Amino acid sequence: DKQPIRVVVTGAAGQIAYSLLYIIAKGDVFGRDQPLILHLLDIPPMMEVLEGVVMELADCALPLLRQVVPTADPAVAFNDVSAAFLVGAMPRKQGMERKDLLSANVKIFKVQGEALDKHARKDVKVLVVGNPANTNAIVCSKYAPSIPAENFTAMTRLDHNRARAQIAARANVPVPCVSNVIIWGNHSSTQVPDASHAKVNVNGKMVSASEAVKDEAWLRKQFIETVQKRGAAVIAARKMSSAMSAATAAADHMRSWFLGTDPDEFVSMGVVSDGSYGAPKGVVFSFPVTISNGQWKIVQGLKIDDFYLDMLAATGKELEEERAEAMAVIQA
Ligand code: NAI
Repeated sequence: DKQPIRVVVTGAAGQIAYSLLYIIAKGDVFGRDQPLILHLLDIPPMMEVLEGVVMELADCALPLLRQVVPTADPAVAFNDVSAAFLVGAMPRKQGMERKDLLSANVKIFKVQGEALDKHARKDVKVLVVGNPANTNAIVCSKYAPSIPAENFTAMTRLDHNRARAQIAARANVPVPCVSNVIIWGNHSSTQVPDASHAKVNVNGKMVSASEAVKDEAWLRKQFIETVQKRGAAVIAARKMSSAMSAATAAADHMRSWFLGTDPDEFVSMGVVSDGSYGAPKGVVFSFPVTISNGQWKIVQGLKIDDFYLDMLAATGKELEEERAEAMAVIQA
């Protein structure tokens, strides 16, 4: 029998966590034979709500869930964890400037980086979901110097899944038939959804997205805009931000990281940039990656159509600006 691993979810009393905890606890992320101890971190005013979540997890009677540790103390939450889902963040409130939001979140991710550095396993895999996810991941990594920078990633898998779903619907195939879409850059409206390397299985034959949807103009305009603006469309309809789909994407991201990608498959992940494809070095930039043995590798040698190059530069520039703003807050 495998020994249990410790997994922390922050923002554990929030709406993404409400879907995510069940997906993790039933074994969909770390394997159906991997027992788990779940650490749930939220802030002190949310402890009563969190107690309700703990009750529901117990009432799911899940065989792999060996223990649940609810806490408001980062030192407890990050102790000995192998995986960290950093979902909790300060949401943007009415009248709040972008800078105020950034400074609140820089503080949260500084504290959590320090706690990871002190208390987590040195091979902990960290996924930042809380926005601005890419920049929060840099801050967290900066305050956890004893953990390799490659272990800090940001979530663009939701955008990736949105892109697959759009192409599948347009090509009239089931969604598993669509793979290798790419989300480049920031998890923001400057992200670049790129279907030019995607593969679509149409009645058993592998074709390009252009061949499958037979509408290049759609791929270069409506497809890109729909994916970029999907988060806002969900908020407009639901009056709350994406939660079920965000939780699913977080689980997909961590499962790919722990269990690997399929042969010939790549997925999108915000990872520390080495300058590939002209992305600024050191920012957390979403690239296509393959994963084996728990290590991600940026897919090299893809030919980037001129059409996407300006957009790639713009999203890279936005990430550099965000990083500069975050560093200014840190130094202030
Ligand atoms: P929510 O507001 O329902 O839950 C957030 C939870 O985090 C709350 O319970 C809050 O008390 C907690 N929290 C705040 N500060 C904390 C701290 N310092 N430590 C621990 N917990 C803390 O929000 P929701 O809908 O669950 O979303 C969470 C985050 O995920 C937001 O920042 C949202 O923008 C982001 N998001 C990111 C996506 C992505 O694709 N990267 C997609 C969807 C949401």
